Amino acid sequence: MITLAKKICLLGDFAVGKSSLVRRFVYNIFRGDYISTIGVNVSRKTVIIPCESRVVELTMMLWDLAGSAEFDRVRINYLRGAAGGLLVCDLTRPETLDSLQAYARDMLNVNPTVRFAIAANKCDLIDQQRLTPEQVESVASDLHAPCRLTSAKTGEDVEALFRQLGQLLVD
Ligand code: GTP
Ligand code: MG
Repeated sequence: MITLAKKICLLGDFAVGKSSLVRRFVYNIFRGDYISTIGVNVSRKTVIIPCESRVVELTMMLWDLAGSAEFDRVRINYLRGAAGGLLVCDLTRPETLDSLQAYARDMLNVNPTVRFAIAANKCDLIDQQRLTPEQVESVASDLHAPCRLTSAKTGEDVEALFRQLGQLLVD
């Protein structure tokens, strides 16, 4: 068994659900109230990932960064050393998808080999969807990133997406 640790940054506009996705993945819980992240929250989870004929024990160091505009100037200081980026948008707010390009660019400036995955979150809010899967896929294909429609509330595709990013980081 090989053991690895990788830093992964969660990036996306305020209230898209970055902290909620981490909470679902790491603790398998959801809370409906909104407590905006101040600065950064670091959590970790170890997963077993197949790699060729072996398995890798991957510790994902999850850096959940504040999405608020006040944090825009300093956010870049937290990206150093990241191997992966989980870019998060909110399916009920189209402008949050447009923002992902800039977050990706910031990460690529710091680490040109960074790998991305995209969470198009809040897919449980069925009546409020204002982005189509095709719109999300188009941004994802530009970044060579897997993408999934997720819900931190129901848990849909959350674990699967984190694992998919983990797989990219060990391959
Ligand atoms: P910042 O820390 O301010 O950048 O926000 P964030 O991206 O961490 O968002 P957070 O996880 O705090 O979630 C914001 C709000 O959206 C909270 O009220 C959550 O309960 C809610 N929320 C997050 N994910 C989902 C989801 O998948 N479905 C629904 N219905 N609500 C969600
Ligand atoms: Mg947060």
